This record gives sequence, C-alpha cells and structure tokens, in this order.
Amino acid sequence: MNGGNEACETIYYLRMSVEHTENFEPPEGLGFETFSPLKQAFKRALINPLANYMPAGLTKAALRYGKSELAAANWTDPGGWRSMVISYNGRCEQIADKILVGAGTVPTALRNRKRLAAHLLADLIDADGSESTHVLCLGAGPGQIIIEAMAQANSKAHATLVDINTDSFDFGRQLAAERGLGECVRFIEADVCDLHEYLDDPPHIVKMLGICEYLGDEQIVTIARAAADLMPAGAPIVFNSISKSHGTDRFFRRVFGLHMIHRSPDELSGLMQQAGFGDFIAHREPLGVYHVIIGRKVRSGEMSEAH
Ligand SMILES: C[S@@+](CC[C@H](N)C(=O)[O-])C[C@H]1O[C@@H](n2cnc3c(N)ncnc32)[C@H](O)[C@@H]1O
Repeated sequence: MNGGNEACETIYYLRMSVEHTENFEPPEGLGFETFSPLKQAFKRALINPLANYMPAGLTKAALRYGKSELAAANWTDPGGWRSMVISYNGRCEQIADKILVGAGTVPTALRNRKRLAAHLLADLIDADGSESTHVLCLGAGPGQIIIEAMAQANSKAHATLVDINTDSFDFGRQLAAERGLGECVRFIEADVCDLHEYLDDPPHIVKMLGICEYLGDEQIVTIARAAADLMPAGAPIVFNSISKSHGTDRFFRRVFGLHMIHRSPDELSGLMQQAGFGDFIAHREPLGVYHVIIGRKVRSGEMSEAH
C-alpha cells in the first residue's frame, strides 16, 4: 500500500496527545457484531497465540492451500481496498476465509467501523445545511463507506473520492449507481499529499478513514493540514484510530506483510490538532479495536491559542 510521496514529508512533527478527546460509546441499533465473553477468552488463550506464533511459512502454505481470497488480496496489496471489500462483505466461499473474515477480530471490527462511520457521516451530512454537502474522501478506495452514508442521509450530498490506485474506481462507480448515486460521486486519481492541486470545490466534510494506520506521523499532519487549508472553520474531519487490542498484530505483520501503526484516539487527535483541528469526539466500535473520531477545523485565532 502506498503511503504517499516525498511531498508528504515535513521538516518537523511532534507526537503529542490531546487530553480532552470526548469518548462516546457505540450507538444502538446499527447491527454491530460482537463476541461472547467465552469466545473472547478462547481467542485470547488459544487462537491468537496460535496465529501469532505458528511458523509464518506454514500458515501461508495453509492459506494458499485453502485458497484464501483475503490472504491473496493482502499478499498483492497489503491492507489495500480489495482486502477491505472482502472484510466488509463478510460472506466468503472458502473455509479459510469463513474463519478469517467471518470470525477474525480485525475483519469483524472493520465491518463495525464501516457501520459506525457511515452512520456518523450521514448525521454530519444532515447537520451540514448546505444545498449539497461536499464530502472529500482521502484514500477512498471504491468509496463503500461514503456511498452508504449518502444513501442513509436525508440531505443531498456529493463526494470527491481520491485514491492513488484507480483499480477500485469502476467497482465504486457501480456501487454508487446501484444505490442511485451515480451522479453524486467523482473519482480522482491522485496522491492525497497533492490535495491543493486538484480541488476547486471546498469540502464541507473531510473523510480520512482506513488510511492513517498506514501513514507516519509527519504524513498525517501534512495531509490533514492541506485538508484544513481548504475547509471552512467548524467543518468536520472524520478519521479512525486502531488499537492493538485485537491481539493479532504479529500475525498480520508476518503472514500478510501488513504493518499497521497503532495509535490511541488521543495520540491521533494530537496529530490532527497540529494540523488545525480541535473539539475531538471519539466513537468506539463495540470490539474496541477502532475508534471513529470527529474533529472540527478551528478558527485561526483559536489555533494559536491551542498551541
Ligand atoms: C485500506 S484502503 C481504505 C479504503 C477506504 N477508505 C475504506 O476505509 O474502506 C486504503 C486506500 O488508500 C489508498 N492510498 C494509500 N496511500 C495513498 C495516497 N498517498 N494517496 C491516495 N490514496 C492512497 C490506497 O490505494 C487504498 O485504496
């Protein structure tokens, strides 16, 4: 997965935490998936250690033999959009994937994150009050979350979906068309670091989901600052953190070649604060692996006070 070009590198950065991120429990009625306490204990005591410490070559061979689509997608593009689509879908043919995708903690938490984020984005669109709310999606893949959010919202919205990889665009256009939203999406092939070069229509909402865990601190600050420059004061940015509580980081690194950067909601909000955002609210998905966080662009006066 491409983490951006050299333009993303800034001269300085500071890893700091904000201490005032408000935390919200998951809302009810979104169809979240959870594990029973017994299943959680079983995973912690047996499944996770097995996944983490079984020789990687053996696990890879078993996944290859089992024709796992999730493993194949990650080997081609670790953490790329195809692995997201497989995880979001959740219904798999192969037994290996039924176990990995259907019962794995991270794929399950990803489906929860999608439900939560789509719900929050739909609320933000409805609260925006513009004639048509413009949502800018960075590292959007095919745009499953924003398409779901626009379908749920009562107000009109349109989205600009930016991705460095065009492979997902046709699939995204088809998804949007199936929901009657074909006219509301615009896909742009670009590096999110070059935001200012291709955006003429200022965004009311910026969505940065599924990307921060693959970016360094400096890159996050640079990209978020470029987004902040385009946004009106008070406009929301939506992003997510990932916690190591899923307990399978060693498995993902060794078997899938997936190197995710785990940050707490406070740490990630601290980076967003450096980019000109504040008033952070973190929404936990029920497994506690992901938080979907909403920050607001601060006014320039407020920003200098914050530092
Ligand atoms: C893990 S997928 C997430 C897709 C979607 N946002 C979601 O949460 O379902 C990350 C996406 O970010 C894109 N990406 C990574 N680095 C990028 C960059 N520097 N500029 C634009 N897109 C990038 C990848 O091509 C990939 O489609």
